Amino acid sequence: MGMGTLSVPRKVTVLGSTGSVGVSTLELFEQAGEAVDMVALVAGRNADRLADQALRWRPKVAVVQDERAYPRLRERLAGSGIEAAAGEAAVVEAAQRPTDWVMSAIVGFAGLAPTLAAARAGAVIALANKESLICAGPELLRTAKQSGGAVIPVDSEHSAIFQVFEPQNAAQVSRLVLTASGGPFRSWSREQMAQASPEQALAHPNWNMGAKISVDSATLMNKGLELIEAHYLFGITPERLDVVVHPQSIVHSLVSYVDGSVLAQLASPDMRTPIAFALGFPERMSAPTTRLDLAAVGQLTFEAADPVRFPCLGLAQLALRAGGGAPTILNAANEVAVEAFLAGKIGFLDIGRTVESTLERTVSPADSKLNSLDEFVSLDGDARSVARRLIGSLS
Ligand SMILES: NC(=O)c1ccc[n+]([C@@H]2O[C@H](COP(=O)([O-])OP(=O)(O)OC[C@H]3O[C@@H](n4cnc5c(N)ncnc54)[C@H](OP(=O)(O)O)[C@@H]3O)[C@@H](O)[C@H]2O)c1
Repeated sequence: MGMGTLSVPRKVTVLGSTGSVGVSTLELFEQAGEAVDMVALVAGRNADRLADQALRWRPKVAVVQDERAYPRLRERLAGSGIEAAAGEAAVVEAAQRPTDWVMSAIVGFAGLAPTLAAARAGAVIALANKESLICAGPELLRTAKQSGGAVIPVDSEHSAIFQVFEPQNAAQVSRLVLTASGGPFRSWSREQMAQASPEQALAHPNWNMGAKISVDSATLMNKGLELIEAHYLFGITPERLDVVVHPQSIVHSLVSYVDGSVLAQLASPDMRTPIAFALGFPERMSAPTTRLDLAAVGQLTFEAADPVRFPCLGLAQLALRAGGGAPTILNAANEVAVEAFLAGKIGFLDIGRTVESTLERTVSPADSKLNSLDEFVSLDGDARSVARRLIGSLS
């Protein structure tokens, strides 16, 4: 299996290489069996995994964001000829090095600065880091366009939509429908969810993902964030965006057109399919995923999402309609609350409560006031302080 007609070697960078999406991305390079020219590998703090990857892929530079992990990285890469670096500025510097293709797979708001830097440098960005789009969607897309780059979605739902969306018929799209697995608590009552442990929230039925997105899938905040993401990516107004729960995660999203046609993309739930799509685009490369066998799957079922048991979905819709800085505030509060839940400081239902109260208590500037990274960083910081204070009063 090869990369098909892709021209190689191809210069690539992987941001968040040690995470779930990052590792799947490198696996695809591996099975393609052809040389890629690795420019940079970037991680948070896992120096050992990053060093293993760097020794295998020989990037020009390997960076850990956390400076405490630097001595270990430097020691592991000593004598290899691979540059080792650490800290936030080094992450951004690595992200903006000239390259053809960047996988943006850092988790959370921390991915925004490097993703914007890669966009400024004109790379094609395979975007898994949805938080950067949620916080600074218009800015990120404008930057990519101005520099001659592009943003290709990696989230399976948005990859699905991207594959069946007819840009020339955007005005004839009547609805975009995102499918949601429903997460591990799909059939749980609020009383049961109040007692949910981090281990239970992390046990996603269909996908094996990083901790933060797994908790977001359990609260359905992930689907809410994805609605905001879809709004920016496809320019579809909030009232034409919908969610349907589909526990098998086979239909990855749907686009309805005014003539009654509904186009969908189907695949076994495996992130290597949307990553391969973003890597090959506009061509298709092979990916070593389980072929979809509908007869073996048997049934595809659908149900409405329950806004009462999953209030985070409604909060995200509220932030989407409010616009301005509201999505950034929503995202910041959610990141702080998810971290507190994973650390055992608050209960599962406190995540939604924290996000709701933070949205109420943080001043949201209008769109026109949010034009630079500094402004997003400052708003994100304000919302985080509010969320932390709220959590302090809970625990
Ligand atoms: N996993 C999925 O199936 C999936 C599907 C759709 C979308 N996404 C999105 O893709 C992104 C990554 O998700 P994931 O599941 O791969 O997460 P993950 O497994 O937790 O990996 C996160 C990656 O980001 C790195 N990182 C964390 N904080 C950082 C920082 N401050 N600076 C630089 N690097 C940092 C981590 O490095 P260390 O390991 O060294 O800490 C790791 O490489 C998220 O935005 C998520 O919403 C994921």
